[in-house]
Amino acid sequence: MKTTSTNAAKDLYKELRRLGWQQIWSNHVPEFNRETPGSKTRNAGLVRAVGVVFLESGSPSQKAEVAAWLRSLLKDPDEKIRRYAMAALPKIGAEAPDEEALIELLQRDNPAERERRYLARALDKIGGKATLDVADKLPVQTALKVKASIAREESPSTIRLDEKIEKVAGLQIQLRSRRGLEGFIRQELESSPKMKALFEVKSSRPGLVELSPLADFSPSDLLTLRCFGTLAFVLGKILKPDAEPIAKVLAASSRLLQTLTQGSIRYRLEFPSLGHQRALVREIANRAYALCPDLLNDARSAPWAVEIHPYDGQFLVELRPRLSPDPRFSYRRLDVPAASHPPLAACMARLAGNSGKDVVWDPFCGSGLELIERGLLGGVRKLLGSDRSAAAIDIAKSNLAAATLRVEADFFHGDFREADLASNSISQIITNPPMGRRVPIPNLAGLIGDLLETAARVLQPGGVLVFANPLSIRPSDAQLKLDMKQRIDLGGFDVQLERYIKTHR
Ligand SMILES: C[S@@+](CC[C@H](N)C(=O)[O-])C[C@H]1O[C@@H](n2cnc3c(N)ncnc32)[C@H](O)[C@@H]1O
Repeated sequence: MKTTSTNAAKDLYKELRRLGWQQIWSNHVPEFNRETPGSKTRNAGLVRAVGVVFLESGSPSQKAEVAAWLRSLLKDPDEKIRRYAMAALPKIGAEAPDEEALIELLQRDNPAERERRYLARALDKIGGKATLDVADKLPVQTALKVKASIAREESPSTIRLDEKIEKVAGLQIQLRSRRGLEGFIRQELESSPKMKALFEVKSSRPGLVELSPLADFSPSDLLTLRCFGTLAFVLGKILKPDAEPIAKVLAASSRLLQTLTQGSIRYRLEFPSLGHQRALVREIANRAYALCPDLLNDARSAPWAVEIHPYDGQFLVELRPRLSPDPRFSYRRLDVPAASHPPLAACMARLAGNSGKDVVWDPFCGSGLELIERGLLGGVRKLLGSDRSAAAIDIAKSNLAAATLRVEADFFHGDFREADLASNSISQIITNPPMGRRVPIPNLAGLIGDLLETAARVLQPGGVLVFANPLSIRPSDAQLKLDMKQRIDLGGFDVQLERYIKTHR
């Protein structure tokens, strides 16, 4: 019997979902209102459909009418109708009267377990300060969620990037990157006397460089490095990714979190190797909150990510600042579809070196990241960019302007083979050519071959070509000598990052 009625409700819901909101609101709802209690129960699917349909359509005034109708259903004698109304209310952007109505139900009717669960779920989504006043009647998760959403709305928390972190013995810092770039990160750190005095490289493995501090430092010290992708602090090592040890590690780290957070401490839990773990996230969040009520799990615009990474047969609990946009690359006002990974552009610029008066060309400049990163290193006489997309050229120009580099720059809209460049006029070519992945390139081998041939002609003797080579094509001109190659992950596929030097004949 139960199965049949559940199916009937589901079928009705599916049928109604196909209708427009006008039809539901002007025909089906008035019909439902006239029904007898028993038949209302059988047609509860309508209440669900109303929530979903009005989530997607309807003007604010219609939504207000729908909300009033759903609120009236909270008083229905049938528990099923009340539950369906509770589930539908948050979907249409519920407001204070809805919270009041739900709380009234909670306090007055002392609902049974199942209804209480639905009530809590609705308050998770729409509750505010009034819900916190009755938190003792609700699951811990509701208080946590409501507190997080109030905190999010009242003051968006930020990370204190300039705050000093005392040198803590054993503190481990993880700099993650695309695989293959770890050597660049190491080199960047070790070539800076200031950074060498602050940090020691403990180890490096594919896609990860591990540091330990040698002195007090601030997160912004780490952000002077441009070759890594993300940074994180190791909060603890655990045997298994279970709720209890993770919550304990989090609670034990609350001082570091307090020091580094301006505003409420909101974090998002992520399991990069395990995917979504909803039940586990909920359990960790509740336990950590019970241990330390300042720790608010919040998936929406949280300043911190707490990530669980497999590590030598165990797991690391890491704290990663969610820096978006990344302040290191704030000049990226606009983007092209196949834009380079900014830290890769920074690595490539470093790989090209600095002669002190370089003329740098990016034949496939896109949004201009390689040119800008090279410009930021200094020692540039002129930046030249070409791209066959006019939009890309405009974007590169506006990004370059945002980078406020005082460098002469010239852009050419068109095929790079048509750029009017004299032989021996360029000292560096730094480029990420199209890879033929997203947009098929009819003759990629020909394109790369032409790039090598053009480079051999326009580069000065001693000049450098740095590029990500999607194919194992070598230059036919013997003047271009392969000087370095490194296999790198370009976001799901590998290519060779190569450096060629044009020899003096
Ligand atoms: C991988 S994207 C470059 C991304 C760039 N490094 C950035 O950071 O945005 C390749 C670019 O090459 C351009 N392109 C493709 N074929 C070209 C050609 N024959 N001549 C000039 N540009 C070309 C595309 O329009 C695209 O913007």
